[in-house]
Amino acid sequence: MITDTFGRPLRDLRISVTDRCNFRCPYCMPAEIFGESYQFLPREELLTFEEISRLARIFVGLGVNKIRVTGGEPLLRNELHLLVAMLAEIPGLNDLTLTTNAFLLPQQAQGLKDAGLRRITVSLDTLDDEIFKVMNGRGVGVDRILQGIRQAEAVGLSPIKINAVVQKGVNDHTVVDLARYFQGTGHIVRFIEYMDVGNRNGWKWDQVVPAAEIIQRIDAEMPLEPLEGNYRGEVAQRYRYRDGSGEIGVIASVTQAFCADCTRSRLSTDGKIYTCLFASQGISLRDPMRDGATDDDLRDLLTGVWGRRVDRYSEERADLATQQNAPQKIEMYQIGG
Ligand code: GTP
Ligand code: 5AD
Ligand code: SF4
Ligand code: SF4
Repeated sequence: MITDTFGRPLRDLRISVTDRCNFRCPYCMPAEIFGESYQFLPREELLTFEEISRLARIFVGLGVNKIRVTGGEPLLRNELHLLVAMLAEIPGLNDLTLTTNAFLLPQQAQGLKDAGLRRITVSLDTLDDEIFKVMNGRGVGVDRILQGIRQAEAVGLSPIKINAVVQKGVNDHTVVDLARYFQGTGHIVRFIEYMDVGNRNGWKWDQVVPAAEIIQRIDAEMPLEPLEGNYRGEVAQRYRYRDGSGEIGVIASVTQAFCADCTRSRLSTDGKIYTCLFASQGISLRDPMRDGATDDDLRDLLTGVWGRRVDRYSEERADLATQQNAPQKIEMYQIGG
């Protein structure tokens, strides 16, 4: 086990397998910037499945016990099930999951399950078709996503989590409907405070609906009570319906930062390690690997990077936001949230 400068161990690895996405959510990949001619990474820049699984084994050797596959949209990566099968074989891993927009899930759920994926998280910000079409930037209707969720359920990729980013004035008036729809299904909806990730979404404090307010609104209609966390460092605060009909969560990354217990590392599509969602710079593992580094060399490199880690962006946000020349941050679609 390795720890950073604040004594936080390295437990989670989030792997971005592509920087492409079939959606254009304005808060992540606005269509005006990511148009037809936008240059995504060329194939040779991407880590291969062999490179990813080699690195994943090294991370697991250093204490990682949970891997999340992300993107962009991970289901766009060719033959993703082959990577899942390679990751599923790594001894010492006790959670293997994936975050997707579910557009391609109807076709892929079975293959992913067979390859060894345990569970899945689907991003779905609202059940209101008109609002959803705007929020995904591609006019995709809610039905398609619900179909993906049903297929994931049918093949046993559970518990299924539904992630909803809440933006004031955009979808916040639909949170109770979303909670109600999944009440009693066993799926866990988690409402996420809108964050200032990346440099392009023009984030402002007044677009954030505090998690406490989201809970109040739902509790007023379907009474809730708090639950204990599943594990230390869990990002979501858990609640359950008092009538026993299920669980929801809120991710209060803006109003109640959780950096103190942050054990997450992120591997970008082009093989850089980022030690914070808001980092400006990553350290390439791909380049030394392609230059012939041994597993021991890579382990030393990672131990050094984690050992020097001082990230606590969300706790420092208030100070940083007022800084004039704040450094550029990594974009969400490059490390997958
Ligand atoms: P479980 O394993 O199911 O508990 O989920 P998770 O902790 O892996 O959370 P998930 O990947 O579903 O994250 C949900 C959302 O929380 C992300 O999309 C981000 O918006 C936010 N989030 C996750 N990790 C971090 C983090 O390290 N820092 C901040 N600020 N936000 C995070
Ligand atoms: N704030 C909070 N969550 C975000 N996501 C993307 N951008 C943001 C943001 N600005 C979420 C997506 C998805 C996950 C990958 O990250 O909705 O659930
Ligand atoms: Fe794609 Fe997810 Fe970004 Fe939306 S938030 S554009 S679905 S990667
Ligand atoms: Fe971890 Fe950075 Fe998020 Fe804080 S802001 S919880 S350090 S990823």
